[in-house]
Amino acid sequence: MDNIVIIDCGSQFTQLIARRVREMKIHSTVLPWDVSVERVREHAPSGVVISGGPDSVNDEGAISVQREILTLGAPVLGVCYGMQLLAKYLGGQVVSGEKPEYGTTPIRREGKSRLFKGIPDSFDVLMSHGDRVKQVPPNFRATADTKHGVIAAMESDDGCFFGLQFHPEVGHTQHGSLVLRHFLFDICGCKGDWDLGNWIERSVEEIRARIGAGRVVCGLSGGVDSSVAAALVHRAIGKQLECIFVDHGLMRLHEARQVLDSYDGLGLSVRHVDASGLFLGRLSGVTDPESKRKIIGELFIKVFDEESAKIGAVEWLLQGTIYPDVIESGSKKGSAVIKSHHNVGGLPEHMKLKLLEPLRDLFKDEVREIGRLLGVPSGIVDRHPFPGPGLAVRCLGEITKERLDVLRAADAIFKEELVRAGLYDGIWQSFCVLLPVRSVGVMGDGRTYSEVLALRAVNSADAMTADWTRLPADLLDVVAKRVCNEVRGINRVVLDVTSKPPATIEWE
Ligand code: XMP
Repeated sequence: MDNIVIIDCGSQFTQLIARRVREMKIHSTVLPWDVSVERVREHAPSGVVISGGPDSVNDEGAISVQREILTLGAPVLGVCYGMQLLAKYLGGQVVSGEKPEYGTTPIRREGKSRLFKGIPDSFDVLMSHGDRVKQVPPNFRATADTKHGVIAAMESDDGCFFGLQFHPEVGHTQHGSLVLRHFLFDICGCKGDWDLGNWIERSVEEIRARIGAGRVVCGLSGGVDSSVAAALVHRAIGKQLECIFVDHGLMRLHEARQVLDSYDGLGLSVRHVDASGLFLGRLSGVTDPESKRKIIGELFIKVFDEESAKIGAVEWLLQGTIYPDVIESGSKKGSAVIKSHHNVGGLPEHMKLKLLEPLRDLFKDEVREIGRLLGVPSGIVDRHPFPGPGLAVRCLGEITKERLDVLRAADAIFKEELVRAGLYDGIWQSFCVLLPVRSVGVMGDGRTYSEVLALRAVNSADAMTADWTRLPADLLDVVAKRVCNEVRGINRVVLDVTSKPPATIEWE
């Protein structure tokens, strides 16, 4: 099977490159910039793409990739920073700070290039660079430039190395997909015969080979990712997988029961731990968002640790990490931590579990598709994402059982009305947020002084960016009326009309 290795030098667009490659039915693997040549060789790449990144190749300590990766024999495409690295390694010259370009710019082709076959002589591309290649390496030629004389593309005479100063992976670049297609099919010789069905078969075989007779433990949250990861690993090793469902008391209405019933149907062996008293006790009086996240993360690990000790002789920890989590947690150089995402990655030293993360390279929609193929019920596969810390990050201010119950009741109404209107499945994520703000209202003949509920609905491809959903006014009206009438403790409903960025999807 063809595999394209994408080496991530820290660009926010790396995942888009991976996506474009997958869209052409070619498997792709994203590896960090400091990956060894041996590791890349293990992936038997048909081609290598080196991504963009925030560094300057001329700076000391800048991100670099192992030079030997260029000698593996697979064609190499350097994008933006990747092109500058190629130029530096192969004897060209890169200059910093001269003629930076940000935004859409027309470029003009020069001479013949296999990358640009069938593409007009001039087209618009997205540029985003401070540095540029001033001189191409020996036995290379420039194949496109901008009107400011910046080299926009280069390639080696032997047809092994290609560089693009612009980003072919983004929608703003005209013919970007065609440029990538030429690289993947004409230059790397890929066939485009990969699909998610054979991904499952291959993955099941790999998991069996890795785990052997070992035992795996998995923390289930009821969310799509951990559930699909568990279903996949269960298919591979059956009873060697033991799952733990920690109920932190921060789930939605009836959620714990529904989720456990679904797991029963999948044949998973699940230990249900009701730790709600412990969590709510420790969260009492805590209002700072990061403190809430830290407490929940630590307690989760403690409970998980105690339960795994009861299982005994476990060697592996299964996690439902997916590709956007890898980026958002700031696990790579150059990307900032926005929120401490809570998972069981911070397990205590003494557990010494090996990590199994079979979904690490996949996007959410791919995980959902795999879930469907594995028979995971639609109630889990199609549910909106739910954060690990649960309602704690949606119950702003102090977390009490009473406020959580108010939030749960309101949230259930919002979901019910979205489903009734046939809108739920078309929305990426929707939920309610209880604000620690009281306002005056009038109900019947009396004055009320109660808290405010915010409705949040967003559309997104992968949660990295999101646009607020334009919900119909009539639906909003019904939700607001029902919430104020049916939920004691709320007398005002507002709508969040902020996208990400500048906001994040969750409020905390
Ligand atoms: P933000 O709020 O960062 O959220 O824009 C992006 C997506 O991630 C979800 N989210 C989490 N998921 N553990 C999770 O498993 C977490 O700690 C966490 N925090 C946010 C959020 O619901 C959205 O889908």
